[in-house]
Order: sequence, then structure tokens, then C-alpha cells
Amino acid sequence: MESDNRVSIDFMGKTYKVSKDLSLLGALLEIGWDSVKDLGCMGGCCGACATFYRLPDETHVKAGLACRTPVTEGISFAFVGHYHSPKPDYDVSEISNPKQALFDFFPEVTTCRNCEICPQVCPQGINPMKGMWFATFGDFATVAEMFKSCVQCGLCARVCSMGIRPHLVAMYASRMHGARLMDLPENLLDRMAQIQSGTYQEEWDTILQQQVEPTDEALD
Ligand code: SF4
Ligand code: SF4
Ligand code: FES
Repeated sequence: MESDNRVSIDFMGKTYKVSKDLSLLGALLEIGWDSVKDLGCMGGCCGACATFYRLPDETHVKAGLACRTPVTEGISFAFVGHYHSPKPDYDVSEISNPKQALFDFFPEVTTCRNCEICPQVCPQGINPMKGMWFATFGDFATVAEMFKSCVQCGLCARVCSMGIRPHLVAMYASRMHGARLMDLPENLLDRMAQIQSGTYQEEWDTILQQQVEPTDEALD
């Protein structure tokens, strides 16, 4: 007889028995999937464990982060294949018109069909579709606020039939807002002036001297 403490899960078409009260990622570690050992933060911060899963008796495939999705009896899941969305190469200090440059770097952003798929897959509860509207209309401050908890998992880009990269659009808008468009707070300006005048140079030199080269083992 099976213990009450174990559940059946289906990972990439194969069935395993694992302890309950684990996350999907924890379950993979338990069954010995070494490839996830150093995958990421295990805490919902790095976005490296994007996953599609289906619960028993449901037809709908859901998306989430494997480190934050609990195992349940009969859950079926697979990792989202790893790929990089093309990233524009830009220097925030050299863009003369940040709002206009959005359309040079991300011309597809205006093609959103309002299909509402991307809000359904975001594990952080962000609405990327609305974020693209605000970005298109140049409201970078709202975009920056909306995407504060984005973990760059890329699920929103993965499901977009128009090839929109909401996570990268949001990162661009947030950077431009912070570096070029918003008024910097007084205390930040004071601190920057202190740093530029060398107030903390001694401490900075001490930190640099303490840096160690990474070992081959750490880089492995
Ligand atoms: S906005 Fe996109 S990249 Fe950011 S957490 Fe949501 S789905 Fe992931
Ligand atoms: S998935 Fe793409 S087209 Fe659909 S709402 Fe999101 S950004 Fe727009
Ligand atoms: S491992 Fe970092 S978010 Fe899941």
C-alpha cells in the first residue's frame, strides 16, 4: 500500500512517486534529476524554472515557476525549453529620444492583438499586455511600476503569437525611466556627488583588493 506521504507525478511523460509537500523542482531533485541541481535560486526570484503543467481532470495547461508550484497527485509537467529572446544592444546614456527609440528596438510592440494570453501565464501576476499598452503610449513610469516583480522568466514572450518580448520591453522602459526620465531624488543626488568626489574611495579600494578570482570548480 502506498504511503500517504507520496504522490504520483508525471514529468515529461514518465511517472514518478515523490514526497508530497515538495515543489515541482524539489520533486525533480528527489528523483535524482541532477540537471536541476544548480538551476537557479529555488526561491521564485531568478525565473530559470519556467514550467508548463496540467492538473488531473483539467484540460487547460497552466504555466508557473517549478520552484513555487507544489506537487499534487497526478500533476503532469515539463520545463519550457530554454531559449534567449533577441536582446537589442543599447547604451542608456546614448539614446537621444528614449520613447521613440522603443519602436526602433521593439518594432513589434505595436502589434499586440489584445489576446490576453500573456496575463494568464505570468507567475508574478503581472499583466504584460497592459504593460505593452503603457509602453507604446510612452508611460514608462507605469511600466516600471507594473513590472517591479518580473523575474524575467520569459513565459510572456514564449506564448505571444506576435513575437512581442514584454519582459525586455519592460526592462528597457524601466531602465530609461530610472536613468533618463524621472527626477532623481535629492538624497540619491547627494550620494552620487559624494561617490564622484571620492568620499568612499578608500572603502571601494578595500573591497576591490578583497575580490578573489573564481575557481575552475565554481565556474564548472
Ligand atoms: S512579465 Fe513575463 S518575464 Fe516577467 S514574470 Fe511575468 S511572464 Fe515572466
Ligand atoms: S500574448 Fe502578445 S498579442 Fe497577446 S496580449 Fe500578450 S503581448 Fe498582446
Ligand atoms: S529556480 Fe529561480 S525562480 Fe525557480
